[in-house]
Parts: sequence; structure tokens; C-alpha cells
Amino acid sequence: MTKNQKLINWVNQWAEVMQPDNVVWCDGSEEENQRLLDGYVNAGLAVKLNEKKRPGSYYFRSDPSDVARVENRTFICSKTQEEAGPTNNWEDPEKMRATMLAKYKGCMKGRTMYVIPFSMGPIGSNIAHIGVEITDSAYVVVNMRIMARIGKPVLDALGENGFFVPCVHSVGKPLAAGEVDKTWPCAPIEEKYIVHFPETYEIWSYGSGYGGNALLGKKCLALRIASKMGKDQGWLAEHMLILGITNPKGEKKYIAAAFPSACGKTNLAMLVPTIPGWKVETVGDDIAWMKYGADGRLYAINPEAGFFGVAPMTSLETNPNAMHSADANTIFTNVGLTPDGDVWWEGIGYDCPAGTIDWKGNVYDPASGEPCAHANARFTAPASQCPCIDSQWENPAGVPISAILFGGRRPSTVPLCHEAASWNHGVFMGSIVGSEVTAAAIGLKAGVRRDPFAMLPFCGYNMGDYFGHWIDMGKKSSADKLPKFFFVNWFRKKDGKWLWPGYGENSRVLAYIFNRCNGEGATVDTAIGKVPAAGAINVEGLNITAEEMANALAFSTDEWKDEVALIEEQYAMFGSHLPKELRAELDGLKSRLGM
Ligand code: GTP
Ligand code: SPV
Ligand code: MN
Repeated sequence: MTKNQKLINWVNQWAEVMQPDNVVWCDGSEEENQRLLDGYVNAGLAVKLNEKKRPGSYYFRSDPSDVARVENRTFICSKTQEEAGPTNNWEDPEKMRATMLAKYKGCMKGRTMYVIPFSMGPIGSNIAHIGVEITDSAYVVVNMRIMARIGKPVLDALGENGFFVPCVHSVGKPLAAGEVDKTWPCAPIEEKYIVHFPETYEIWSYGSGYGGNALLGKKCLALRIASKMGKDQGWLAEHMLILGITNPKGEKKYIAAAFPSACGKTNLAMLVPTIPGWKVETVGDDIAWMKYGADGRLYAINPEAGFFGVAPMTSLETNPNAMHSADANTIFTNVGLTPDGDVWWEGIGYDCPAGTIDWKGNVYDPASGEPCAHANARFTAPASQCPCIDSQWENPAGVPISAILFGGRRPSTVPLCHEAASWNHGVFMGSIVGSEVTAAAIGLKAGVRRDPFAMLPFCGYNMGDYFGHWIDMGKKSSADKLPKFFFVNWFRKKDGKWLWPGYGENSRVLAYIFNRCNGEGATVDTAIGKVPAAGAINVEGLNITAEEMANALAFSTDEWKDEVALIEEQYAMFGSHLPKELRAELDGLKSRLGM
């Protein structure tokens, strides 16, 4: 399949360690995909969904312990702990390699080792990066086939001497002679390892078959390793959606937005505007790689080829484009299975059919008080099936970014929208992102936590240096060409109720931001930045009172004084790695607050 001797040697070396029964090089073909999926169905480990309702689609249930990312088992193994920084788990790389090699020894006994060559970004594009994942999970193969470009064309692009990021994965459950899987294979939580060696651009993952833990092109390569590559090479790898927005006059801009996991990227990226004449199209829903073009503007590409989207609360009402993306050729994990071979989840928009099987495999009892679908149940769907996919989504040059948004689930303090005064102020905003935690990771303490740039779980090096990299990037162009920064919050509450309807109605805020990029739209100056003036956000046709709107937009000095105390606490952790520009931004905020 390949003449790349480095790749061949690498695969052989790992086959020797892991001792699989056989090694299969994935070509990415339809036949191969069907063979692997049929294998799961025949083994009783997946269900083929009703061909009339969901053509080409499959249903999987994971082990109840293997339902999301595991942040306390995720490690950045740089040479020193200081390089990993205060927000990452660190272990000495040599010690970690020894620990994991002991785990990897014989871990594929009784299984097949699949070799998946993949490209993050369009194949052959000069901004794409190639990785090769070896795995003993066919579930990983069929998901990677949707999420990335895989197989023979990638090997052709790699050539004899091309560079690839080596990605090692095993579910960590060898089989005894004659033994077969009866359920989803994985290792117990404390034996899972999601490990990155940033200096050598390597990924080693063990013990989990789920999402970001196992589909190594996604969070491990396209964020953790790519963030380090970006720092080394002068570009940015970010946990951001990318959307195109067109106004009624036909003028188009592109916007990127960083929200923490399960905080609305997929929804915003595919939004159906509720205001007449506006259009939103999707470039990506989770990851953006951004570089400067020759014109001094920042260009973004989506390195992925599919969506690994949160199922619960996704409906024809809230996100029809995500629903239609998953009409066919989609893999569903940890949702409910209806008696007629379709899927169901909380918030899908209709009642749960009697006899539906829940994500744990039991007949669902709506009276139980338990959810039918796991809160982090997901669909894996090809981006090409999205009805509002942008015409430029595979353009290797990327799309020019006019605005960068930050957001998160903030029940108080943060207004519906506010705008930064400068690049450095925007970087400050990114650095103080926080959110109520969600089900996207296992075992987090409830409440608001700091998640700078929505990258807390995904930054492959010292977060303080990452802030510095963002500051430096702003020096490479001029203010008229750089994107503007905004902070948005769809999740503010009063008396337990959302102050803003969210979803498609967020188009009203996007339209305001679009206009601000053209220097239009009335603003009010506050200590934290420019807030929309009353009436600047179009609320025509929306059932919201002027008082409710004022509450959504409210800025409170007292709340922000409390916030500053939290920011001080967070910043203290970075010590000398905190850029002086951010310290200056915080000092500026304090003085504007009269502190
Ligand atoms: P990851 O894939 O984990 O990175 O998440 P994401 O940021 O793409 O989140 P997603 O769009 O899938 O949204 C997660 C949850 O937030 C879903 O249950 C959505 O229905 C809900 N959600 C999204 N947008 C809004 C909104 O504007 N308002 C409210 N109230 N909920 C929203
Ligand atoms: C996230 O948690 O931000 C995700 C899902 O996008 S996963 O790929 O599992 O990390
Ligand atoms: Mn994500």
C-alpha cells in the first residue's frame, strides 16, 4: 500500500509490541466500511437502523464508563512540567512511555490492528496535516472515515518520505483464545491514558473507544498537537466553529467562535436565521486552523470532514441542519433505539415511542426520571450532508475571518454581547472564558470553571505561553485587517429562566456583530467593553420585553468586581508565563471598575 519506509517500520514495530492476530491497512473504501459495520451487526454490538428512515446508519451503545472525554486521564508529556503548564496533567515522557508500553504489550491479542492513514484538511492541501492511527477498534475506523479524509488517497499524498503524526490507539482489552466481545470493549477509567508528546508530535491513547479519546485526528491531533505545531510555526489551532453569514444586501463575512464543549458551536454554525434576508452557512462546527494570508487577513480552515455532534436537544425546531446532516450514513452512539429501528433522544421534538431501548440497553421507562439518551450521546455525520454547508468549506486557502466570538454557559455576569476595544483586549476576553461544566467530559465538579479560549482540555502546552502566542499573532498584521473580538452569552438566567431564547434567534446578535464589523450599530461604553445600545439588536417579531432585553444586556459593576477576583486567582497560576499585555488589560479593567 505504501513505500513510506518510516511508516512501514512504525507499524511493524507496534504490531510486534501489541501482538494483534492480523494487520489491516484501511483503504477507506465503501466495501471496507460495510464489512466493518456488518461485523458489528453480526456480533450483536451494533444495530443497523431502519433503511427507510435512516439509510446507511448504525446504532452503537458504549460501555457505561466510556461515554465522554476523560480529562483527569489526559496528559501532556513535555520534557518539563513547566512546558505543560499549570492547566495540564503532566508526567515525565520517559516514565509515561514505560508505563504505557507495559499496557500496550500484547494488548491487541485476539484482535485486528487497523492502520488508518488520515488527512486533517483537504488531501494534498499545504495547510493539511497527515496522521496515521493504528487501532484495534473498527468503530474508530468507521467514525474516522466520516470525521477525516482517510485511506489510499492519503497514502498517495504522503508519498515515500512525507511526514505523518503517529497516533497509537488501543481499547485496552485483549481477548483470550476463542473469546469474542459481548459488549463495548474498553479499560476501566483509572487505566485509561490519553497521552501527547508535544516535542515529537506523537499521540498514545489507551483504554477508551469513545469520541475525543479514540478518534485521534480530532482533539488529540487537530487541537493538542496542532496547537503546539501552531506555536512552533506561527499559526493557530482552535476549538472554534466557522460560519459564513450573508446580509440582505448579499454581503458575506466569515465568523469564528470559541465556546467550550457542549456550549453551542454546532448549533451556531448551522443556525437558521429568524430575521428576514439573512443567511448562515457552515464551514466547521468544532475546530479551526487559522493562518495569515498574503493580504494580512486571518484565514481559517476546518480540518475535519464530519460532525461529532451532541444529540440531546437537537431537533427540527432547534437545529434542522444538524438533523438533516444525520438523515443518512450516520453513526449514533448512546442515544435511544425505537422499536421501528430509529433513534430517539431528549429534546428531539416528539414523545418517546413505547418500547424504546435506552442508552444502557434497557426498555426505557419515562417515569424512571433517568434520561433515555446519555447527555453526551452523539451523532457522527458527514459534513457534506449538511444542507447549509458553505461553498468554500473545502477551500484549501480557507476563509477570511472578520470576527472572533467567545462564549460559554454563564448564568450571570456576562451580557448577551460585548465587544473588545483592541486585539489585546480580545485576547484578554478569550483568556477569561468560563462556563458551567457540561456532560462532554467525565467527572468534573459542577459549577462555572475557567476555560480560556474554550481550550482548557485541548491546549498542548503551557496556557500562559498560549496567551502569549495569541498576543504575538496580533502583532503580525494591522488593526484594519485583524478580526474584531466579541463575547456572547446565550445562557444568562433570571429566576431560573433563560433571558435569551437562543438557537435561531442568535442570528439577531450575529447580524449586530456583522454590522459592527462595518462600523455600524449603536453601542454603549462600559468597563468591560462596548455593549449594544438599546434597540441596536433587532428584536422585531420576538416575544421579549424591553425590560427583559435590558436584563440580557445588563452590565453590573458589582458582578464584575467579583469576576475580577476570580480572574486574579486564575492569572496567579501562570506566574511568569502570563503575558504582561494581559496583566495590563486586567489592570485597565480594574481601574475602569474603580478598583
Ligand atoms: P462540542 O461538540 O462538545 O464541542 O459542543 P458544541 O459547542 O458544538 O455544542 P452544541 O452546539 O452541540 O450544543 C450543546 C447543547 O447546548 C445542546 O444540547 C444544544 O441544544 C444546547 N444549545 C446550543 N445552542 C443553544 C442556545 O442558543 N441556547 C440554549 N439554551 N441552548 C443551546
Ligand atoms: C468536545 O468535547 O469538545 C467534543 C466531543 O467536541 S469529543 O470529540 O468527544 O471531545
Ligand atoms: Mn468540541
